[in-house]
Amino acid sequence: MADLWELECYLATGEQRRQTFADLVSRIRAPAPEAVADLGCGPGDCTVYLRECWPFARITGVDQSPQMLAAARRYAVPGKLGFQLADVRSWRPAEPLDVLVSSAALQCVVRHTELFERYLGLLKPAGWFAFQVPADSGVPRQSLLSKLCAAPRWHERIGPLVYPTKWVADPEEYRRVLLGLGCRVTVWETVYRHVLPGADAVFRWMRGTGLPRELARLPADERREFLTEYAGLLRQTYPRQEFGTVLPYRSLFVVAQKPG
Ligand SMILES: C[S@@+](CC[C@H](N)C(=O)[O-])C[C@H]1O[C@@H](n2cnc3c(N)ncnc32)[C@H](O)[C@@H]1O
Repeated sequence: MADLWELECYLATGEQRRQTFADLVSRIRAPAPEAVADLGCGPGDCTVYLRECWPFARITGVDQSPQMLAAARRYAVPGKLGFQLADVRSWRPAEPLDVLVSSAALQCVVRHTELFERYLGLLKPAGWFAFQVPADSGVPRQSLLSKLCAAPRWHERIGPLVYPTKWVADPEEYRRVLLGLGCRVTVWETVYRHVLPGADAVFRWMRGTGLPRELARLPADERREFLTEYAGLLRQTYPRQEFGTVLPYRSLFVVAQKPG
């Protein structure tokens, strides 16, 4: 469904995604890691930043989407930066890791806190596990969509929406689980105020991050009508200003160091 998820719209969010990724990685105090992995690496435009941080590391990006990995492979450097098609729930590295990062991916994985023990087991002693997930449930760009779906015109054919962000745990639950596994843990949240260029910038952002699959239940012409209505609501709520459109965006960060 090209109108529900568009790789081009997703790639256009690169500047904002890289900012979040850099903020996450800035809190990893690994002096000279040899083996690093990025779980749910997407199109690799964030993963490649790890080369700037740790030029001597062997870096692996892991993702289950062939489309994302096709985009990522342009950054591959033999022996330095590679990409693997795999599910992050079961992936195993070829060697023990110094750093395991994941940005904006674990929210797609149900009960991902149950994976933390296994992830720590993939790390060397004193290794780092750091991840970021969006913490934006209930924000206007989502509640507008839910309200529109609930309107009499659409309700019966679309049904209730399920957002991927529903798998984000409470910040203190993350802390509790990782402290329980013996880690030193830092947890924080940042609300970005991204400035997006162009017309219908928030609508394009939503198409880039993926509109709910339930909308595919509508036939193409009605889906277009629905999306036009949604774009109009977004324009009112996130007005375009002379410098661009401001998108408030809350991210939750967790950085844990395994015991040495
Ligand atoms: C929102 S993108 C984030 C990509 C990248 N980390 C970034 O910050 O730009 C989420 C990525 O996680 C991947 N993903 C979700 N669940 C996954 C799983 N179980 N195994 C592997 N990849 C997964 C998706 O395919 C997608 O590429």
